Amino acid sequence: MRVVLFTGKGGVGKTTLAAATAAQLAASGRKTLVVSTDPAHSLGDALEAELRGEPTELEPGLFGAHIDTRALLDSSWGELQGHLRTLLAGAGVDELVADELTVLPGVEELLALGAVRRAAESGPWEVVVVDCGPTAETLRLLGLPEALSGYLERLFPAHRRAVRGLLAGLSGGGRDDLPAWDRTIDALDGLAEQLVGLRALLADDQTSIRLVLTPERVVAAETRRTLTALALHGLRVDTLVANRVQPEPPRSLRGPAARWLRERHTEQQAVLAGLAALPLPVRTAAYSSAEPTGIPALLQVAASLYGTDDPAGDPGRDPEPLLQVRRTAGVGGSPDSEFELVLRLPGAAGAPLELARVDDDLAVTAGGTRRMVALPSVLRRCTITAARLVGDELCVLFQPDPALWPTARP
Ligand SMILES: Nc1ncnc2c1ncn2[C@@H]1O[C@H](COP(=O)(O)OP(=O)(O)OP(=O)(O)O)[C@@H](O)[C@H]1O
Ligand SMILES: [Mg+2]
Repeated sequence: MRVVLFTGKGGVGKTTLAAATAAQLAASGRKTLVVSTDPAHSLGDALEAELRGEPTELEPGLFGAHIDTRALLDSSWGELQGHLRTLLAGAGVDELVADELTVLPGVEELLALGAVRRAAESGPWEVVVVDCGPTAETLRLLGLPEALSGYLERLFPAHRRAVRGLLAGLSGGGRDDLPAWDRTIDALDGLAEQLVGLRALLADDQTSIRLVLTPERVVAAETRRTLTALALHGLRVDTLVANRVQPEPPRSLRGPAARWLRERHTEQQAVLAGLAALPLPVRTAAYSSAEPTGIPALLQVAASLYGTDDPAGDPGRDPEPLLQVRRTAGVGGSPDSEFELVLRLPGAAGAPLELARVDDDLAVTAGGTRRMVALPSVLRRCTITAARLVGDELCVLFQPDPALWPTARP
């Protein structure tokens, strides 16, 4: 199943282009689901249809759904939060403090993404198109499964049996409290499992992102940062989509209005030329005179965007993974070997970058985002000797720490 996610700054046309892409796919005979996680109900407006939480068929082969995060929050998270609150109260934690403690940031986004995955798995779709909402939220949304699963793993390590006992003791109660703890841990286990599933979906090589922008200078600058931040989270952008591109006014057109149009056009073309320097294909969609809503208008947008190309095509598909470890010297496993961790960060060239080793993780900050990269076991027994940015590749050099290398031979 191919999954295409649309994101970008507010108001650039994410919803419209997601709907147009889905409409075109369905028209070409592919069973397609388009789903939105945006709290504003604009996907329904673009499609001129009433959408619900469950996928409904709008046109032959075109299914739409709108995830209502509020409702999700009240049902599934509410239950888990209830358990946690009771348990904390049992442990003598003040009720107000317990309320604060059980607010997990990002849980709304997490539930939305979980619901997208369930909707995606609920039918025989060939393509699932997701309207993710604005970039900042999307980054939080897409980076969350990884961040949270690390967090949960630390809070609730695999040896849960011991944790169960410990927690029961903490609550001050006797055996009576055990079932409540059991339910809580089961609920947290469920959450952790969902996170693993989400990571798998996002990291799948059939999943990619379309980053939408309008050809204006400020937007293009932000696009670079977003690209870097997405790559840092291991998320792959397959295409940059420039929307609302103005056609060149005909030569016969004269007067101040024509001059204005010509200047806008030149300005936009300059921004588009700048985007060409990024290592990604760029597509453009023309500015239509009327708001493109409803299937016929959306199909016109899709025609401008894709021409005769496959809307689900993946031109940015890259054989090289975003993160890899290479051995640069010595024999594997010997103390004189050297390793290089390479993190590909499109758009990062020349941008500020920060690195820090935090226990078994490498904290990388770039494009305004920070990611904890869990180091592969071979690198955990090494020390970092150098790091450099070559083009848009971050290379970190590791050398085995003899003290941590038990197999070392003289
Ligand atoms: N190519 C286009 N030509 C003309 N109007 C467009 C085009 N693309 C989008 N629009 C219009 O621009 C407005 C914003 O588009 P849309 O809702 O798709 O943006 P969005 O990025 O999803 O916004 P939000 O960040 O609020 O979710 C809508 O009124 C839409 O109809
Ligand atoms: Mg939108």
